[in-house]
Amino acid sequence: NWTMVNIAEESIDAVRAQIGAKRAICGLSGGVDSAVAAALVQRAVGDQLTCVFVDHGLLRKGEAEQVEKDFVAATGVNLHVVDAQERFLDALAGVTDPEEKRKIIGREFIRVFEGAAREIAAAGAADDAPVEFLVQGTLYPDVVESGGGTGAANIKSHHNVGGLPDDLQFALVEPLRTLFKDEVRALGEQLGLPSEIVWRQPFPGPGLGIRIIGAVDRERLDILREADAIAREELTRAGLDRDVWQFPVVLLADVRSVGVQGDGRTYGHPIVLRPVTSEDAMTADWARLPYEVLQRISTRITNEVREINRVTVDITSKPPGTIEWE
Ligand code: XMP
Repeated sequence: NWTMVNIAEESIDAVRAQIGAKRAICGLSGGVDSAVAAALVQRAVGDQLTCVFVDHGLLRKGEAEQVEKDFVAATGVNLHVVDAQERFLDALAGVTDPEEKRKIIGREFIRVFEGAAREIAAAGAADDAPVEFLVQGTLYPDVVESGGGTGAANIKSHHNVGGLPDDLQFALVEPLRTLFKDEVRALGEQLGLPSEIVWRQPFPGPGLGIRIIGAVDRERLDILREADAIAREELTRAGLDRDVWQFPVVLLADVRSVGVQGDGRTYGHPIVLRPVTSEDAMTADWARLPYEVLQRISTRITNEVREINRVTVDITSKPPGTIEWE
């Protein structure tokens, strides 16, 4: 479509002018925004861009593999993978406050990017310039809700906006900063990205770290990862992926309730299903999933994830709720 062709060309020109002959890295999250931002910058500066995928241990099942398979295959981009699981889990240990979690995750991302930038520069030819730019897939709603827009209150510090440290070593390249998600998807299609990437449901950069209510640790992450995988699998099986904007699954890690399974008493954790419909994530409604789908998810989660003995559905719109619980 005509407008998207123009937006794409103008953005590519602007990025080329900003980066010049220097080098840039782009954090890939597996989501739509960073993928489109990366594809756009690659179009502008080619091999001066290296994408960095940080495995922070807060990913969903199969996510790391998907980035390598789908995105790199589609774009042929240079990819640098960092295993930072321990680093993130250490930094998050014992932290329960949502904003504190977000700030820690944002800070650790940047520290990992700084390390990756040094490695990438060192691996290049001796006359190669250092990496000066960091590309981020920040969207307009991220800016507004982090308090960066005109007069908006700080609702949440999105990890790539309000979560950045003051002593940031990079200049930011944010080619999607004025766009909404539907525009980003159109741009992604314009840039030739496969539909598995373009139509993926949004997933927050801080990942499962903000879907565990309570402190984050490896065991809790494993529990949530299993439950989340089941919920997503059943949604896909029901053919509802595109009807639902996003489907967070949230672990109430500090809550326990009594249940019964077989002859035995259980004392497990509840999980919250949070399927929502939305146009742009600024407002949302709870998705009316068919009862049979909810029932299958509930049965499977309580059968297959030992630590969970109760499944609940969040029926709050945004506002007054937000999409994520933290
Ligand atoms: P809320 O929970 O504020 O979420 O209604 C709105 C949309 O933003 C996503 N989200 C994030 N995305 N970094 C991101 O990249 C973040 O820190 C972040 N926090 C929330 C959320 O999943 C929803 O799509």
